[in-house]
Amino acid sequence: MSSTFAIQGLGFYAPARILTNADLVKFVDTTDEWIITRTGIRERHMVAPGEVCTDMALAATHMALDNAGLTAKDLTHVVVATVTPDTSVPSAGVVLAKKLGLEGVPAFDLNAACSGFVYSLEAARGLVALHPEARVLVVGAEVLTSRTDWTDRGTCVLFGDGAGVAILAADTPANKGARLLDMQLAADGTYGPLLTIKGGYSGHPYKIGDVVGHENYVQMNGREVYKHAVRSMCAICETLLARHGLTPEDVDVLIPHQANLRIIEAVGKKLRFPDEKVFVNVDRYGNTSAASIPLALAEARALGSIKDGQLVLIATFGGGFTWGSALIRF
Ligand code: ACO
Repeated sequence: MSSTFAIQGLGFYAPARILTNADLVKFVDTTDEWIITRTGIRERHMVAPGEVCTDMALAATHMALDNAGLTAKDLTHVVVATVTPDTSVPSAGVVLAKKLGLEGVPAFDLNAACSGFVYSLEAARGLVALHPEARVLVVGAEVLTSRTDWTDRGTCVLFGDGAGVAILAADTPANKGARLLDMQLAADGTYGPLLTIKGGYSGHPYKIGDVVGHENYVQMNGREVYKHAVRSMCAICETLLARHGLTPEDVDVLIPHQANLRIIEAVGKKLRFPDEKVFVNVDRYGNTSAASIPLALAEARALGSIKDGQLVLIATFGGGFTWGSALIRF
């Protein structure tokens, strides 16, 4: 069996509703200038009332299926990376499978925070290695605005909602599309307290009648996250490139986790990528956590920023901490 895999289709979706910095200024003590200077974010998408994680995942999946010339019936597994599923039980994977009309297809969620999509690709590689006929729907979808503390100006300006999808299958001549060449993952729980959503889980259970507290939302030490994110993404990209005898010059497009423009620029600079090789859409979406990488990858491809034959390097980083890199040949 080949050690490379086919990425047959890509899709993305963001809700129609847009929250601009000017909108935020109306209810948070901040300014457009502060947000743009510190984060590069100008606007983010936000679900409409009643719109849930799997609605976005479904829309992105339809795009990926169209893109690949497949139908939902061609899918054998559903993996959804998210920290904001519609419900804890049933999982977003199972709900999405149902919305796709799939019965009996294994479906589950995977939580690696913002690195969830890249971790899910690794899980999908394992599934395809085990079941060569598999065609795995790999989704990153988040309603981060449902876990945003709108009274905390240090975090609430950062996040947005969205979804991105890739379909992974065996590398055979029949399975057209890009090729996932290799990946590298890492995690270190030492830094868990620097970026958390605690409330309502077994470590901080709620009782009926409890008032929902700040711990129900994203809490973050931004400065520390920034340092670790840059260092870890660069190191794991260098490890993966070195394994293949490659240097940044061999890579055509770098797609880093879209958390913050300053992190993206620092990673690009440290890895010696000129700005024009670094894909950025954080200005329009904010940080969409597990959706960030597939949303950027699918949008970059749709916009023509990734061309046939080009080599793409992915760098991800998230709470846990978790981080990873991937190499894809289009
Ligand atoms: N508007 C105006 N002022 C603000 C805002 C805001 N939205 N947020 C914070 N400030 C103020 C603070 O209150 C503080 O004021 P003080 O000096 O009077 O106390 C001042 O700005 C500096 O605050 P810091 O938190 O130190 O600001 P910093 O320069 O570190 O920028 C930021 C904050 C943007 C979050 C930065 O730390 C960062 O980029 N961190 C990276 C983390 C990140 O992007 N995480 C995303 C989620 S994690 C992930 O995706 C893996």
